[in-house]
Amino acid sequence: MNHFISATDVTSIQQLVDNALQYKLNPFLDAQLGKGKRIGLLFLNPSLRTRLSTQVAAANLGMEAIVFNVDKEGWALEFQEGAVMNGTTVEHIKDAAPVLGQYFDILAIRTFPALKNRADDYSEMFIKQFIRFAGVPVVSLESATLHPLQSLTDIITIQESIKQIGAMHKPKVVLTWAPHIKPLPQCVANSFAQWVNAWGNANFVITHPKGYELAEQFTNGATIIHEQEEALKNADFVYVKNWSSYEQYGEILPANTNWMLTNEKLAFTNQAKIMHCLPVRRNIELSDEILDGPNSLVTQQAGNRVWAAQAVLAAILNTLNQSNEPTDHC
Ligand code: CP
Repeated sequence: MNHFISATDVTSIQQLVDNALQYKLNPFLDAQLGKGKRIGLLFLNPSLRTRLSTQVAAANLGMEAIVFNVDKEGWALEFQEGAVMNGTTVEHIKDAAPVLGQYFDILAIRTFPALKNRADDYSEMFIKQFIRFAGVPVVSLESATLHPLQSLTDIITIQESIKQIGAMHKPKVVLTWAPHIKPLPQCVANSFAQWVNAWGNANFVITHPKGYELAEQFTNGATIIHEQEEALKNADFVYVKNWSSYEQYGEILPANTNWMLTNEKLAFTNQAKIMHCLPVRRNIELSDEILDGPNSLVTQQAGNRVWAAQAVLAAILNTLNQSNEPTDHC
């Protein structure tokens, strides 16, 4: 694997999931793989799980991880080609990224969308500029439109839970929109849809109020149902997440009451396991009774972030190590 930005960077999702579950059984299986290598974790936005799980994963592989909170500690970066830098930005990505590529063997970057201009956000300019100018593999720690480490984690969690509950059929997985007080990115929902569709081992349903349709490039393959109770029927897994409107870009639409998941709604499901990427606004996005109840997978899911990150870093390290192997010359 060269870069990890999207499901399309992965040859076999199932292989990556299996590798991650191997690491969960034996965290130090490849403790020498990253010896002498460094990863730079660059944050332009806050994080708890992504930052710490990736640091733990790197340590398990023998790598050194250095965190740089670019938003608080770095120079304000400019990403526009040809920018006349007479405003607040101090350093162009064309200058900063190659320097970072000199310091690190892998760069990992978190950046959120501005949610002002859909075309700008969906162009993924920030992460593409890092790839273009850094000269080393780039891992997305969440970008403007996708959160691939989260989605890999989610599939790992579904797979291990299927084994635990012994389901014989393809699980019904429902992604449900939930309320929130702030406009949030579509990244987690886009990415979950992209990965579940690419994985192909679930009957996948998305439910949301009208007006919250996600980009078809990610949802193609899923069944869309606008009545939440109908969608929840016989669900084995329910993934709860808020996102702002894609059509009326970045907006919260009026009159979306009664979409928070409760035990009353859980009764429509097949005793579904409940997932959320965290952080979660309790009793707005998801009820206490669900989060504190026996069906919640959220802590197990967040714990699995380590194994997802470890599987991805190992795949990139294997590619790096292969490219550094001496070739035979005759
Ligand atoms: N789920 C997730 O990405 O959590 P953090 O924002 O805390 O990293």
